[in-house]
Amino acid sequence: MRVAMIGTGYVGLVTGTCFAATGNNVICVDVVKEKIDNLNKGIIPIFEPGLDKMVKSAQERGNLSFTTDIKEALQKSDICFIAVGTPMGEDGSADLQYVMNAARQIGKYMVHDMYIVDKSTVPVGTGDMVREVVQEELTKRGSSLHFDVISNPEFLKEGNACQDFMHPDRVVIGSENQKSIEVMQELYEPFIRSSEFFVTMDIKSAELTKYAANAMLATKISFINEIANISEKVGADINKVRRGIASDSRIGYSFLNPGCGYGGSCFPKDVKALIKTSRQYDYEPELLSSVENVNARQKMVLVQKIISVFGENLQDKTFAVWGLAFKPGTDDMREAPAIRLIEELTARGAQIRAYDPQAMKTAENFYLKDVKNIAYIKNKYDALNDVDALIIVTEWKEFQSPDFMEISQRMKGDIIFDGRNIYKARTVRNYNLKYYQIGVQKNKYAKIKAAANGKN
Ligand SMILES: NC(=O)c1ccc[n+]([C@@H]2O[C@H](COP(=O)([O-])OP(=O)(O)OC[C@H]3O[C@@H](n4cnc5c(N)ncnc54)[C@H](O)[C@@H]3O)[C@@H](O)[C@H]2O)c1
Repeated sequence: MRVAMIGTGYVGLVTGTCFAATGNNVICVDVVKEKIDNLNKGIIPIFEPGLDKMVKSAQERGNLSFTTDIKEALQKSDICFIAVGTPMGEDGSADLQYVMNAARQIGKYMVHDMYIVDKSTVPVGTGDMVREVVQEELTKRGSSLHFDVISNPEFLKEGNACQDFMHPDRVVIGSENQKSIEVMQELYEPFIRSSEFFVTMDIKSAELTKYAANAMLATKISFINEIANISEKVGADINKVRRGIASDSRIGYSFLNPGCGYGGSCFPKDVKALIKTSRQYDYEPELLSSVENVNARQKMVLVQKIISVFGENLQDKTFAVWGLAFKPGTDDMREAPAIRLIEELTARGAQIRAYDPQAMKTAENFYLKDVKNIAYIKNKYDALNDVDALIIVTEWKEFQSPDFMEISQRMKGDIIFDGRNIYKARTVRNYNLKYYQIGVQKNKYAKIKAAANGKN
């Protein structure tokens, strides 16, 4: 099949590349010339495991190309995906300007009948707006070309995007046009294990499905963080409580990890956009507002712990920060908890020595470019030299089993603040390091041990 992908970001590039991997002819379009030039030279603009090899082999086969020329892409395709960004607008709603621009360009430049597939995450009703804009442009130029608008929200996870796309839990198609559904089924056939994973519905339901899925996942995260905060207050251990509840098959383990808040390109903006949409329809989404509030508070939990130890004035303090990306496996820092943490600490005078396996360039060039007191260190152990404490923000694999002896020798101080609860407290304490986690009182086990020793 001949596919155009408008927008060559995380979603567009992965989707286009995976469709090319199954033999389709794919042209990816973007307005950023540098990105397209680089892709044509084989330089991948994002870090996503396995993506570089897939792009390279599709380019060598000759069925994946990159251009800034949307006219060329529309000429050479029958199915056109819109995969542009839908960032958070100033009022919290999804900013649809890029989607609408893409729709307008499609209407202006399409030269034969088209299937227009909205892959961007868009509020309910956007499919109708895309249809209107495309039709408006066709009418302007007196064209009688036909098109259909289909909703096909994307559920891939950054850090595992190619795998997720190749082996999806489900493919959701919003369309009431049988021919359009058949075309989508044919395109997705190689990725779908059985027909039950191909879920069709009307466009509005498909649009809402994407928001509902992200809102559910964000809710799970805020829920466990809420319980973690209660845990800490009452002297329980969230790591144990988590196991106690997640082992219930109705609840499950995934997305129930206590931490320093969710970030990323999707959850924050999608929860906000769903709240906005609900209010537009005179419904107050109490639960979603709380999910958002809990998360905003959670992004300050590490800062509060650090202040409780070192005080508000951090002028002469230096901290190592392990992890900048919003989650492991990506260089994406959109809404990453590390941003708020580092801004808060440096505003109080602290110096930061930061290490991340992939996101240091992103931090330096974009998200933390205005932060002065930060040094980017190429090795996680070098980042520890003479620091007062280590702060773990992203649970990259390489942080999971570190050399604790090395950690304790390199640091001037003796504290680890862990925003992801990746260690066993006992292991850390064996190296005479103090360990602050989320949802566990700092002195809980010391107190228990002291009490037990007293009894003995
Ligand atoms: N990133 C994710 O993990 C993820 C997962 C599922 C869904 N989504 C959704 O998919 C959409 C895209 O997200 P993303 O993370 O890939 O965004 P992104 O910002 O990484 O990429 C968007 C790209 O579109 C390009 N673009 C904008 N207007 C254009 C136009 N008129 N023509 C051609 N290119 C244009 C931009 O230059 C950019 O490269 C969003 O709606 C997002 O919510 C993202």
